[in-house]
Amino acid sequence: MESIQAIKQRFGIIGNDPKLNRSIEKAIQVAPTDISVLVTGESGVGKESIPKIIHQLSHRKHGKYIAVNCGAIPEGTIDSELFGHEKGAFTGATSTRSGYFEVADGGTIFLDEVGELPLTTQVRLLRVLENGEFIKVGSSKVQKTDVRIVAATNVNMFEAIKKEKFREDLYYRLSTVEINLPPLRDRKDDIHLLFRKFASDFALKYKMPTVKLTDDAVGLLLKYRWNGNIRQLRNVAEQVSVLEQNRTINGVTLQNYLPNTGSNLPAVVSSTKSESDFSSEREILYKVLFDMKSDLNDLKKLTMELMKTGTTSDVQKDNEHLIQKIYGDDKEEDFEASIEDLEVLSIPAHTSHTDQPEEISTENEDKYHFAEEIEEEETLSLHDKELELIKKSLERHSGKRKLAAAELGISERTLYRKIKQFDL
Ligand SMILES: Nc1ncnc2c1ncn2[C@@H]1O[C@H](COP(=O)(O)OP(=O)(O)O)[C@@H](O)[C@H]1O
Ligand SMILES: [Mg+2]
Repeated sequence: MESIQAIKQRFGIIGNDPKLNRSIEKAIQVAPTDISVLVTGESGVGKESIPKIIHQLSHRKHGKYIAVNCGAIPEGTIDSELFGHEKGAFTGATSTRSGYFEVADGGTIFLDEVGELPLTTQVRLLRVLENGEFIKVGSSKVQKTDVRIVAATNVNMFEAIKKEKFREDLYYRLSTVEINLPPLRDRKDDIHLLFRKFASDFALKYKMPTVKLTDDAVGLLLKYRWNGNIRQLRNVAEQVSVLEQNRTINGVTLQNYLPNTGSNLPAVVSSTKSESDFSSEREILYKVLFDMKSDLNDLKKLTMELMKTGTTSDVQKDNEHLIQKIYGDDKEEDFEASIEDLEVLSIPAHTSHTDQPEEISTENEDKYHFAEEIEEEETLSLHDKELELIKKSLERHSGKRKLAAAELGISERTLYRKIKQFDL
């Protein structure tokens, strides 16, 4: 069996990502069998190499290899393209024609973008997969073929099945083995490697010195979302190679070639939902702040009382409802402590402090003392709320900090600090 490295070299596959290696390994393993394979992954991740590897390493390698882009063939002609037609089957069918399934007998057919197949064609495909039988358009004669099928899709097949755009039985028949290729953003170690390879290829092609990236440009490359994956990276490398006079490319220059990097945000965050969640969370925060403000006013009132009477027991008695409101039942002890602290400050009793500057300063200290207490409470409650917001946001984005930070309107670094702080 050829090694993964040798296969990569033979098929021009760059990268050392473990997930990529695993996918190639899987392709090597299934190649000698006739098992149907479904290659999945976003657009531009390199799905097209997989069926080629499978065909080349199989006993069919001397047979035909036909790649069909199911999304590019008009619905009206696809059955005829795949299965052929009889003379006179439809207007313009002036002669009998063989379809790919007949031509590729003994070989491999790669059905790219298989999710785009019309439902009627899916029925025909299921039949050919199950027993090798097919019927030309406009014919009634059943024909036999021996074709291995490798299909690829960049759409979520379960979604397509749910929407009844794709037959579930066909999906299971096609995906006996599934080979998934990871998106480029999940192959961080390969990004710069691929860029260097493309830059060097384009330098050769256009007979110019190879472009080089500065560290900040490399940083940008790694941070970018690459929705178009390797295809997009290759395009960027080509544009930069052709257009930039200065062959050292910094971040500012590179940025011009990366659409939307400014807000390197998730493409679509189910906005309506998160917005409504967020506004209700904001409401909770407002309520907490409002309650705290009301507590603060009550505490001010208590303080005034204390300053006037100077005896804690009277204050306690006369303001039971306030104490109850601010501290609740279980906070009795805390309140005692606060009162004791106040006594330590020895507020002079029965003084009209307005005309005594020193006492005014005591009053300030006293207020300050309470403010501190309140501040502590405020910080605590806010922390709890913040913690809740962060937790929710992280949950919503399944732990993806970048998305959560964007939603919370804080930097990723700040979010990281908070996660550490709250031990999340
Ligand atoms: N690992 C890789 N190394 C080098 N080039 C790659 C690699 N993966 C993909 N490419 C290139 O990226 C482009 C898109 O690949 P393709 O197989 O057409 O993607 P998909 O079919 O998944 O949309 C092609 O030009 C391909 O040669
Ligand atoms: Mg493709």
